[in-house]
Amino acid sequence: MSETQHTNSSTTGHIVVGLRAKYYDIGNLPLGLPFVTLPHVRQIALQPGESLLDIGCGTGEVLYRLHRKFGESVSLHGIDPSGDMLDVARYKLRAAKNVQLEFGAGEQLQYPDASFDWIVSSLTFHHVPLDVKRLTIRESQRVLKPGGRLLISDFGVPTHFAGRMFGSLYKNHAFTSDNLKDIVRELLLEAGFTDITDSVNGGIIHHMLARKKTF
Ligand SMILES: C[S@@+](CC[C@H](N)C(=O)[O-])C[C@H]1O[C@@H](n2cnc3c(N)ncnc32)[C@H](O)[C@@H]1O
Repeated sequence: MSETQHTNSSTTGHIVVGLRAKYYDIGNLPLGLPFVTLPHVRQIALQPGESLLDIGCGTGEVLYRLHRKFGESVSLHGIDPSGDMLDVARYKLRAAKNVQLEFGAGEQLQYPDASFDWIVSSLTFHHVPLDVKRLTIRESQRVLKPGGRLLISDFGVPTHFAGRMFGSLYKNHAFTSDNLKDIVRELLLEAGFTDITDSVNGGIIHHMLARKKTF
């Protein structure tokens, strides 16, 4: 089993490849699904005709559930720097006509300004170093439409004993330690996002929803 940098990716993020990509969904089922994916999807309220980008979409589980929830009336896009994760996502979403999956990284979004109504990202911010977290939030600000929403679900400050236990187990995984210091909220404020709300699952997974200023 391997989890190393993908050869054709220039990101310094920790990308998921090989057997870890192939069996990612099985590993994600017991904790990832109830504490991250399902509450994340519940917060996303798309209107017909709106567009959404999932940064670090991985195996496409969030997009798959959004497709089931909103049907073909919305436009769904996912990017990931792991070709192996995208292969799983492409298979899972093979019947969905309104989903586009592309190779890409959050710190360098290949979309024009003001392209999306929503940008979402789950369990990806703890996979990237601080400079990439900052750039990804800045890029999200650029490609969101005024008033658009950014939802980031990932590790954050532990809020109770179980969360602290989990945090101490995970603090050395990829780039989790910055997340545990509430860095995502700080970067959202630094980039000028407003109306930040935060809900917590399992005492450690924060779902941070923010809005781009309308000007
Ligand atoms: C733990 S997985 C989460 C996948 C999916 N979002 C989920 O909720 O199951 C982290 C993902 O981040 C991706 N990743 C790593 N560096 C990235 C970057 N710079 N930009 C976007 N995604 C990145 C990895 O390849 C991997 O698919």
